[in-house]
Amino acid sequence: MDTVKQYIEQNKDRFLNELLELLRIPSVSADSKYTGDVAKAADMVATRLKEAGADNVEICTTPGHPIVYGEKFLDASLPTIMVYGHYDVQPADPLNLWDSPPFDPVIKDDKIYARGSADDKGQMYMHVKAFEYMFKESKLPCNVKFLIEGEEEVGSSNLTDFCIANKEKLKCDLVLISDTSMIGNEIPSLDVGLRGLSYVEVEVTGPNRDLHSGVYGGAVGNPINILAKMIAQMHDENNHITIPGFYDDVLVLTDEEKAELNKAPFDIEEYKKDLDVGDVWGEKGYTVLERTGTRPTLDVNGIWGGYIGEGSKTVLPSKAFAKISMRLVPGQSSDKATELFTNYFKSIAPASVKVEVRAHHGGEPVLTPTNSTAFLAAAKAMETTFGKRPIPTRGGGSIPIVAMFEKVLAAKSVLMGFGLDSDAIHSPNEHYGLFNYYKGIETIPYFYKYYVEMSK
Ligand code: BES
Ligand code: MN
Ligand code: MN
Repeated sequence: MDTVKQYIEQNKDRFLNELLELLRIPSVSADSKYTGDVAKAADMVATRLKEAGADNVEICTTPGHPIVYGEKFLDASLPTIMVYGHYDVQPADPLNLWDSPPFDPVIKDDKIYARGSADDKGQMYMHVKAFEYMFKESKLPCNVKFLIEGEEEVGSSNLTDFCIANKEKLKCDLVLISDTSMIGNEIPSLDVGLRGLSYVEVEVTGPNRDLHSGVYGGAVGNPINILAKMIAQMHDENNHITIPGFYDDVLVLTDEEKAELNKAPFDIEEYKKDLDVGDVWGEKGYTVLERTGTRPTLDVNGIWGGYIGEGSKTVLPSKAFAKISMRLVPGQSSDKATELFTNYFKSIAPASVKVEVRAHHGGEPVLTPTNSTAFLAAAKAMETTFGKRPIPTRGGGSIPIVAMFEKVLAAKSVLMGFGLDSDAIHSPNEHYGLFNYYKGIETIPYFYKYYVEMSK
């Protein structure tokens, strides 16, 4: 297995250039302007999978963006690992905040700067290259399936349908995913939890048309003022969410679990400095790691209405809008959170406005076991290549399909991510370390090896 390092060394430049080529395709799933590019990225992933040695590679069309599937079947008596990843990326804007164009990758300070470099093209592609090594060097110890989608960043709803329709095809013992982050390059960690998500858009309507803010101001409810007040009302003075019943199903951590979670290295001063904030913010009585890993949130993602053009226009607008997300934790359900939000939002609206709540995609929270063969194999693989045992952590982000894999395919996932929180995913200047890219490729074959050995 030490031959993996040698194989990487010999193929280093090609491994990098292939990733750069994939990063040049603006596969933004949220924006229909890029539909053709999303398809191009799917094509490239399929081609590379074939070249690496995968069989039955298909580009499966869906009502949305395509799903790339490929496999290598060795023997029915061997375990089957399913690799999941996504080749779609978040929109790159605001473009003016990038130091180099988002789809023209550059290497600076040993990092690849490009949209999707860390989330998730770089991390997904490590699996293709690790597979190439195992296949070409006759080191593949089990069956493998690849399921690489193009709609993770928009909620994976077509992949959900695809899983339901293809249960037999996707049958596996375990799903292996690199789409999360570690604490640091010297502090490897493994995510054991993901938050769920409820995402809504609200529309608040006041008068039936925009009004002169002098002629009517003071006598007619301003939907933007009212929306702002309604949003402010959704947290109390302890930054606890005020929606009745919202916390009812939240799984409360035991003191031991809390102590374990807070053992992870975390420097609050560094955290504040990195973000340039005077203080952290959050629910009273919880540490930062507890807040992001184990507590639900309610955040406005965008708010608009009225006049935002140059100069000033004296207007009392007819409408105000906001996009609001709730991150959910184990115990909570996305549909229930959406319903509780909707009822409460309507109940606090004054009679001077009408409100509408529209639900977007959601996802369920997950906790992955820490005593499973898969988790132990992942920990051992990271220990082998990092020289340190990874720390179990709870990530604050969401990968909705993970809970779906459990429900539909009865398959648990291992979240072996190699990114860093500082990679600026979803932000301008997203980057992925060359160290992380090659370390991932090196670690993955050990996971296969240990997982198969430990499954016997
Ligand atoms: N890879 C992220 C999720 C993630 C990042 C988990 C870092 C843990 C640590 C994924 O691509 C993502 O961004 N998911 C979305 C959810 C989706 C429904 C848009 C998210 O978390 O906002
Ligand atoms: Mn991702
Ligand atoms: Mn993402």
